[in-house]
Amino acid sequence: MADGTPTHRMTYGGYLRLNELLSLQGGPEGYNPPPSNDEQHFIVVHQAFELWFKLILRELKEAHILLNQENVPEEKLPQMVHHLDRVTEIFRLLSNQWKVMETLAPQDFLAFRDKLGTSSGFESWQMRELEVLLGLENEQRMGGMDPLEHMRKLASEGKVTQSVLSDFERTSSQPSLRNALSAWLARTPINGSLVGDENDAEVLETFVNGHLDAMKNHGEKVISHIVAIGHGEESAVRSRIEAAHQQAEDFLKPNGQISRSRAGLLFIESYRELPLLSWPRKLIDSFVGLEQSMLLFRTAHARMVERMIGRRMGTGGSSGVDYLDATTKYRVFVDLWAVRTLLVKRDALPDVSDAAFYGYAVQD
Ligand code: HEM
Repeated sequence: MADGTPTHRMTYGGYLRLNELLSLQGGPEGYNPPPSNDEQHFIVVHQAFELWFKLILRELKEAHILLNQENVPEEKLPQMVHHLDRVTEIFRLLSNQWKVMETLAPQDFLAFRDKLGTSSGFESWQMRELEVLLGLENEQRMGGMDPLEHMRKLASEGKVTQSVLSDFERTSSQPSLRNALSAWLARTPINGSLVGDENDAEVLETFVNGHLDAMKNHGEKVISHIVAIGHGEESAVRSRIEAAHQQAEDFLKPNGQISRSRAGLLFIESYRELPLLSWPRKLIDSFVGLEQSMLLFRTAHARMVERMIGRRMGTGGSSGVDYLDATTKYRVFVDLWAVRTLLVKRDALPDVSDAAFYGYAVQD
């Protein structure tokens, strides 16, 4: 039927294709011989993760379609937030799912671990694709690993299908979510000025310098306070505050030029009370929440692995726990994390000009 209502009696098993789904837990040999209870548990847990990864990818791709446009309609922001927040919840759930894995005792794992050969979660192409889609740079990866090259090698050996490789290549060739977000942030109206406006460069300069001055003033107050209460030497405190200020300047003016994307981000985070900026800020917060939940998921995996196999080498050939711990240092949305260091309390900031532009009625 045109509205999708089935023409025959639909059953639960038919709709979910349970016969096929539930016939896939027998391990690489099928059910001959059947896997032990512990090994079946191991397989089910992995498959459940991969199913969630599938949904995560779908949600992120939907968000990507919306964000990766020249003009992102304001009314689409809640939809993007919805996709990202669902991913965050899935990662939270997955962090707890390691607990189920931990019911496998180390000795019981060793009983079938050799059967895994060199297979490893390292080869989870869905995990790799979602990292690429988010925008994790190869330079950040341990050993500078290139996931696309790895996928091409697996495809050439017939270990992944051509269609998996094509999807991966498509994702790799597009701007990542991080890039799309940065392009969108660069279009933020700052103090009422839009990209391309005649005085935009000037307005931008005034905003950035005004913020840096507010940081400096606040820093001076912190120094006076610490010295006045005898909590530290002025020279030591001053050098720390000045280093932070220099970092803020380098962040906002990489290579001496103002980054409009970072200035836009700072503007949204600073003047979050402006109605027009509330969904943009919520979107930024959703990206941060997502990355945070992913990092906690990585950390929980590492702790589970430490409990299971100690410090031995992984089946994929890595150093094991040390490698996994290093992946918890990855940051995709580097700017979103970095801007937090620059924030100044609202009443110490210059007032926003053209507040009416952002949805406030002008007060007499
Ligand atoms: C007994 C259970 C498990 C152990 C001992 C374990 C161990 C490891 C180790 C040592 C690595 C590092 C790569 C290597 O040398 O193999 C790794 C990577 C990985 N594992 Fe697990 N794992 C387990 C369960 C799982 C499960 C259930 C999943 C869910 C899909 C999973 C997903 C991953 C992923 C995605 C990576 C790649 C991480 C990265 O490179 O960023 N692991 N695992």
